[in-house]
Amino acid sequence: MRGHRRGGPEQLTYEIAPRPVPGRGEVYGLIPFTRDGAVARFVAVPAAVLAAEPARLDHDHAAALPPAGLTAWQGLVVHGGLRPGARVLVQGGAGGAGSLPVQVAVALGASVTATADAEAADFVRELGAGQVVDHRSERFEAQVKDVDLVFDTVGGDTQKRSWQVLRPGGRLVSIDATKEGGRFFVVEPDRTGLEELSRLVADGEPAPPVDRVLPLAETAQAYAALEQGHRRGKTVLHVS
Ligand SMILES: NC(=O)c1ccc[n+]([C@@H]2O[C@H](COP(=O)([O-])OP(=O)(O)OC[C@H]3O[C@@H](n4cnc5c(N)ncnc54)[C@H](OP(=O)(O)O)[C@@H]3O)[C@@H](O)[C@H]2O)c1
Repeated sequence: MRGHRRGGPEQLTYEIAPRPVPGRGEVYGLIPFTRDGAVARFVAVPAAVLAAEPARLDHDHAAALPPAGLTAWQGLVVHGGLRPGARVLVQGGAGGAGSLPVQVAVALGASVTATADAEAADFVRELGAGQVVDHRSERFEAQVKDVDLVFDTVGGDTQKRSWQVLRPGGRLVSIDATKEGGRFFVVEPDRTGLEELSRLVADGEPAPPVDRVLPLAETAQAYAALEQGHRRGKTVLHVS
């Protein structure tokens, strides 16, 4: 249904819009969390959560985009209210969930500082961060101040210390479930967000970093590797 005209109830009109029909071609999306997971050759999902896969990416890189890309988009834009020219601090900028916020924020015209360990500093700079703070040897609050938005993927003490680097009125969004405060959110399936990400990809950003690609038969090894940490982007299961 489409609504029309702003104003009181007497102004409101609506029309029944045609239901979108999936066309030919490849699609990508984030499977709703109420469904069984994606470690399978086939999955049934509502068409409403799918968008056309960006032509510039191969399937492995396209597969990496919906979870981390939508997390980035929703955290930065929907919850964080990001505007071009904003100053953003990404906590955990080398991780599976932290690397896309760096890329997407830069693509949207923000200047980005990210925390990461020293070994990952070059990787995070290549993602577009103008400044990288080594979270093991440096205090980020000694180097960063007056940021408009903190995107926190780490939580705990890192999140508590993040409040002091915000400008008055700045926002802290968090995906860490320890919920120390800030605007905690869980990523949701979102066609509009995917279409915005596809548009950014078509413009040249962001190609999501992929740490490793494993065949479906090696799913157990993929999860074991996730538990060891120190990732540089997403782990992808290649189905066929
Ligand atoms: N709410 C949501 O919608 C949502 C969505 C996705 C993920 N998540 C959550 O987000 C969190 C991160 O997930 P992930 O996939 O990004 O994990 P990950 O790939 O393991 O990455 C975590 C990153 O954080 C870094 N790190 C650790 N301690 C740090 C510190 N004190 N300061 C700065 N960086 C630090 C790690 O660096 P080292 O290599 O140095 O250890 C690593 O690069 C998890 O809790 C996950 O459950 C939530």
